[in-house]
Amino acid sequence: MNTIVRKQMAIHPEVMDLLNNQIEMEMTASASYLAMASWCDQRELLNSKAFFYKQAEEEREHAMKIFTFINDNGGAAISPDVKNVNNDFESLRAIYEMGLEQEISVTKSIFKIFKAARKEDDFITEVFLQWFITEQSEEEDTFRSIIDIFDLMEGMPLKMVDERLPKA
Ligand code: FEO
Repeated sequence: MNTIVRKQMAIHPEVMDLLNNQIEMEMTASASYLAMASWCDQRELLNSKAFFYKQAEEEREHAMKIFTFINDNGGAAISPDVKNVNNDFESLRAIYEMGLEQEISVTKSIFKIFKAARKEDDFITEVFLQWFITEQSEEEDTFRSIIDIFDLMEGMPLKMVDERLPKA
């Protein structure tokens, strides 16, 4: 590309590597939620299936936000290789608990990139990541409140529990 037209890279190179890892993490989360949606779909758990299909889409959107951010700022976004997706779950509650664990890992990873951006005076990435920090806090809250519903409805039939859960 013409070097005059091509925007100079605004992202610090080490931060860009972390952002590329984050794309992989978001796409892995998307694939994982898709597997969870399938498990729920096969068991006619209507609210949970809708919830996880939507989560799968949202995680892909997160990955794409980072992907376009890197390329729009003169960097090189890498299409990730998503492997080893677990499709085997022991219960609906276990699925939501795995979802929460996944979200906590993503939050930690976002914080790590945020700190690296701050250390390297990479202001553009720092500002960009603020949206993700808010989003992660909301996602963790959603999973925690769903797990609370399981605690309240312990011993109830699975479909009845599912009917009390948010659709998406
Ligand atoms: Fe994009 Fe919920 O991690």
